Amino acid sequence: MCGIVGYIGAREAQDILIDGLKRLEYRGYDSCGIAVLSPDGQIIVSKKEGRISNLEAELRDEHLPGTIGIGHTRWATHGKPSDENAHPHGDSSGATVLIQNGTVENYNELKEALRLKGHSFLSETDTEVLAHLVEDEFDNGAATLIEATRAALKRVRGAYALCILHEKEPDRLVAARSGAPLLLGVGDGEYFVSSDAASIIPYTRRVLYLNDEELLEITRDGFTKTNLDGAPLESTISEVTWSAEEAEKGGYETFMLKEIFEQPAALRRTLSSVIDPKTGELCVEGKPLTAELLRSLTDISIVSCGTALHAGMVGTYVHTDWASEFRYRRPKLNPRRMVLAISQSGETYDTLGSIRVAKEAGAPVLGIINVRESTIARESDHVLYTQAGPEIGVASTKAYTSQIAVMYAFTLYLARVRGEISDDDYEAFMRELLAVPDVIERVLADVEPIKQVAERVYDARSSFYLGRGFNFPSALEGALKNKEISYMHCEGYAAGEMKHGPIALIQARFPVFAICTKGSTYEKMVTNIEQVGARNGYIVAIATEGDDHIKTISDEVITVPEVREELSPLVNAIPLQLLAYYIARIRGCDIDKPRNLAKSVTVE
Ligand code: F6R
Repeated sequence: MCGIVGYIGAREAQDILIDGLKRLEYRGYDSCGIAVLSPDGQIIVSKKEGRISNLEAELRDEHLPGTIGIGHTRWATHGKPSDENAHPHGDSSGATVLIQNGTVENYNELKEALRLKGHSFLSETDTEVLAHLVEDEFDNGAATLIEATRAALKRVRGAYALCILHEKEPDRLVAARSGAPLLLGVGDGEYFVSSDAASIIPYTRRVLYLNDEELLEITRDGFTKTNLDGAPLESTISEVTWSAEEAEKGGYETFMLKEIFEQPAALRRTLSSVIDPKTGELCVEGKPLTAELLRSLTDISIVSCGTALHAGMVGTYVHTDWASEFRYRRPKLNPRRMVLAISQSGETYDTLGSIRVAKEAGAPVLGIINVRESTIARESDHVLYTQAGPEIGVASTKAYTSQIAVMYAFTLYLARVRGEISDDDYEAFMRELLAVPDVIERVLADVEPIKQVAERVYDARSSFYLGRGFNFPSALEGALKNKEISYMHCEGYAAGEMKHGPIALIQARFPVFAICTKGSTYEKMVTNIEQVGARNGYIVAIATEGDDHIKTISDEVITVPEVREELSPLVNAIPLQLLAYYIARIRGCDIDKPRNLAKSVTVE
């Protein structure tokens, strides 16, 4: 949530900052701003409520000269979106200017203490308090920016990633991290600070990821990494494997559409990277996932949020938990209960909190993560990476199907190691799993029927999504996708629950999306569809190709090829994503940047 960029080098900072902010805009987009240190030693700030295009318009006739600067795109936490609350924020004199992601939990207490010392504030943000805190530490005797920053951060509770400019030290940037992601891009005589590698890959692939309570002091000639006590720390530079093109729209009208269409490739990459095709072994990073550990497990809890929670729910043989609840319930954990954390970003605060609780209790943690070197990936004992590539659209699509695919690969492996599946069954299942990308390609080859359904239902105020068994999570995910990008009120239900209350809402033309592909719950789904039909609801069935009966009881049918029931959530996800997409498009929504949302939820 929120995007940070910082630049120091030989190029004009403004251009790099604006370009970086555009690449990070999916992390927050209610206001944004930049600050550049001009050659005469003054920091000039320009910030604006709304999208980066507003800021660009503001800067059209004005170029902020300078080769050092910072920029921020915001997702509001403290104070509504406004020019005043947009970052960067400065201290009383404007000499210290900073940007921050995360939440300062004791900001009220700090603000009051600073007020008593005569500080006054222009915004409602916790970030402005940090700028004044640095100033206060200069007043307390700190001699340098890094010293003042260290002292200030020791007074802060909460999460932060920040980047600071100071007029009296015009040749450097200071950056720090605790609980919110931050990295340094290492170029040739130039450095880039960012909350996300997406903003810097056009410039450099060489990256240093910061850990909690680490600070960087960056000049054009190099950088030093220290901890909060000033002790120097070793730095390891990694290579970003994503290409710049992967983070571009590549001719598609939105990132979301591109990412929906990338699913066959993402799944092929993911499956071939998690299972060694020669040995059938799982390719785990981190500690080895030994057969001994897998055989000793008595239970697996899955923790994740939102779409990743739905991916986890597809594996209903284990216990899925809302990460935001799990961590506070303090469930009984032990070394025989594995915690499986699923996350695209690898930064989701609640999921991270859950794995920390699990690790404290000695439970082994397996992460299914998309972003390499993310915090959850680094803190998990074992990691299976989804190879979905960068997911920029705020609504998760290719990460979801890749997460389900990895979970299946892991489950099959687990079952084989524990002797719970025969070799023949394992091989048959694996063959069908590996064929899913081809099946998805067939669904994507003809989106016309899905567009037509979207045209018939787009103006509904409310809708239901029904599914059973493996496709109950599909119903939840279909509803989530539609509500988040089109703002239609959508509820996902286990179809059997309908008659216990929700059916009261069914009346003429009320859309009900029923996931009714062939499998063990098919007949029960048909009964649920009949119940809706009897009350004149408008039934859109997702059904198996060749199912003629379903046409006689539904208003619309979208067909998909038949696959084994367990794999059907992977295939059924595609029409549900596309339906949400085309409904949102007709409703004129900003699909890649839905209202109030942001990618990577790093606050509680
Ligand atoms: C919905 C969506 C969110 C995320 C959730 C978890 O389309 O994207 O619900 O799935 O915030 O995010 P990650 O997977 O990054 O932990």
